[in-house]
Formats: sequence, structure tokens, C-alpha cells
Amino acid sequence: MAVTAAYDEIADWYEQEFLARNAAAGADPLGIGRALRGLLGQGSGVCLEIGCGTGVYAPQVRELGWAPVGVDVSAGMLRHARGRLPVAQADAGRLPVRDGRLPAVIAVMVHTDMPAYPAVLREGARVLRPGGVFVHVGVHPCFCGGFADRSDADAVVIRPGYLDGHWTKASWTDQGVRDKVGATHFPLPRLLQAFLDAGLTLEGFAEGAEPTPVTLAVRARKA
Ligand SMILES: C[S@@+](CC[C@H](N)C(=O)[O-])C[C@H]1O[C@@H](n2cnc3c(N)ncnc32)[C@H](O)[C@@H]1O
Repeated sequence: MAVTAAYDEIADWYEQEFLARNAAAGADPLGIGRALRGLLGQGSGVCLEIGCGTGVYAPQVRELGWAPVGVDVSAGMLRHARGRLPVAQADAGRLPVRDGRLPAVIAVMVHTDMPAYPAVLREGARVLRPGGVFVHVGVHPCFCGGFADRSDADAVVIRPGYLDGHWTKASWTDQGVRDKVGATHFPLPRLLQAFLDAGLTLEGFAEGAEPTPVTLAVRARKA
């Protein structure tokens, strides 16, 4: 099933159960808010979120002074986002924005949905103005994936598969997105190299969740 259709199908579950469960787990269980504060930081002007989904991070982006705008392929997800930020239905590989316009672009928990993420980074770099910042927050490539069994948070088991980037629905849980939509995987060097290949300069990193991180965040800048 295409990603669009898969997210259309789970959009209500994502908004009403998945995000609600994360929110109930604590103020910022995956460290996404901390990553946005630390790596995106205060600013002004448009901040484009690639794969904004239901727009759950728009209020935090706005609190930092930015004007959040979102794009996503899934009409179902965007239906929930509309009350939170201005949105457009578009593919991350062909953003409806002219070259060199934006001061900030973010991509939160999306890279594993995008087998063409290196091209998405190039597209993000294309729409950024010189000096603009790209903030990526994604599942941690070393500790999350079809190869990682996180059923005991204190003893994460890494099975063979880390070096294999194929699309998979394999997951340690049936309560997440991966078992429903599927996901791809980029080993750490391939993920970081993709930023450099997109012409972005790496500036900062953060990890979120303990004791073994669930998220890895990257701040990169267009020269
Ligand atoms: C796991 S959700 C994350 C949504 C939101 N950023 C969040 O953190 O809640 C992944 C999102 O990426 C979107 N997506 C997947 N492939 C895409 C593509 N090629 N272009 C735009 N959006 C895409 C999906 O529709 C979905 O809304």
C-alpha cells in the first residue's frame, strides 16, 4: 500500500490514540520538544514542516517565534492539521516553494517514511535561503528499526538488520506506526552523509529519551 493511503487509513488512530498515548507518557517523552527548542531555537519568518502529519508540533514552532507552514501527502493527516497551521498537500520530493525562499525547514519523525530521504534533504536545501536552517528529528537509526527489539526499554536488543535499509513492517510492537505503515531505515553514516550531499553543513545534534535514545536530531545549515 502506498504511504499516502496507509496514512489516510490510520490518520484518526494517529491523532486520537498514538499521539494521545505519547502525550500521556509525559511532557516530552521522546525529546522532540527539547530538540526543537535546542536546535531550531527562536526565530522569525516561515518554518516549513515537511511531512507535518496532523500538525502536532505547530504550537511549539509558533512559541519559538516562527510561522509554521506544513506539507504532507496524506489528506487524512492534513484534515487534523488544518486547525493548527496552514498546510498544502504535496510530496516532500517536490515542494511547492520557489528556490532559496525560506529561513527554516523542519522534518519531524518522517525520514523512515521516505525511502528517498536524501532527495528530500536536497529539496529542503533547495527551498532554504542562504544561511537557512534545516532541523531533522527522527527515530534513532542505531536503536530503532525492524532490527531493534525495544520491548524491554532497559535492555534494547539489536538483531541483525542494522546495515540493511529495506522497507519493513517488522516491529517489536503492534502499538506503533511501523507495523501498520512500514518503514525504511538509514544506517547512521548514510543518514549523515545525505545532509552533506545535499549541500548542508552539520551544526548540532541531540538525542531524546532514556535510557536508550529513541530519537536523533540534527541541525544543518545552507551555506
Ligand atoms: C510518522 S508521521 C509524522 C507526522 C508529524 N511530523 C509528527 O511528528 O507527528 C509521517 C508523515 O509523513 C508523511 N509523508 C510520508 N511520505 C511523504 C512524502 N513523500 N511527502 C510528504 N509527506 C509524506 C505521512 O503522510 C505522515 O503524515
